[in-house]
Amino acid sequence: MDRFETVAVELAREAGKLLMSRFRTDIEVSHKGEVDLVTEVDLAAEELIVSRISSTFPGHTILAEENYSAPKSGSHTWIIDPLDGTVNYAHGIPTFAVSIGLEIDGELVCGAVYNPVLDELFTACSGGGAICNGKPIRVSSTEKLTDSILSTGFPYDIRTGKNNNLDNFREFALRAQGLRRGGSAALDFCYVAAGYLDGFWELSLHPWDCAAGYLIVREAGGTVTNLSGARGSIYEPEMVSSNGRIHQEMLAVLQGVRSLTRLS
Ligand code: IPD
Ligand code: CA
Ligand code: CA
Repeated sequence: MDRFETVAVELAREAGKLLMSRFRTDIEVSHKGEVDLVTEVDLAAEELIVSRISSTFPGHTILAEENYSAPKSGSHTWIIDPLDGTVNYAHGIPTFAVSIGLEIDGELVCGAVYNPVLDELFTACSGGGAICNGKPIRVSSTEKLTDSILSTGFPYDIRTGKNNNLDNFREFALRAQGLRRGGSAALDFCYVAAGYLDGFWELSLHPWDCAAGYLIVREAGGTVTNLSGARGSIYEPEMVSSNGRIHQEMLAVLQGVRSLTRLS
């Protein structure tokens, strides 16, 4: 493990421990939007991670969901979601994770996603493959959408926004073997990487939801693109990730729905 990966892993584990210590206790929850929540634990976990990175690497930029969105300066940027799956967490549902990624000169170089409930740590460094708890992981070999299990998520402006993903949800529900809404995009990516899911898409993601997971899927042999099928970027809201084999079928569904929506 290099120095950066060691720090990412240590902090993901420490923050995960903090999340578990407050899980299903009486915590303060506030609303960022109608259905978008933040808890005191999101904030505490973010402070823990950010303060340690800032003191270890003082020149690095930090992009973290709740309170750190300063413009990039310098070559190294840490991209952090201290609690991915806040709505689950606030309701006592045990599907959430800590996600930490590092970009150097615009390229993702390492990522760690920690699920403290199952004590599962997913990591990847570019070129080194993807690992879960010390063992290499690989995407599934499912060939067809009809045999696939997929996951997705919905934007927090689902009640008002037009791009609400509901039409896509319907189409995939009819075409796939199963469809889930897990509630943690970081874990959705990791489950694609480990072959538990065959594909995952969302239309409204943020860099902190994706940074580590994007790299982990690619390093596990999977494909991540935007809706047009281009390489995509963690700074774009739309992401389609899969085992590669069902990718074209997923894109065809998403593009079909989009063209119908445009016509109507
Ligand atoms: C959310 C979760 C959810 C996804 C949303 C994300 P948060 O992150 O990853 O699964 O559907 O798009 O914003 O708010 O729990 O960190
Ligand atoms: Ca998130
Ligand atoms: Ca979050």
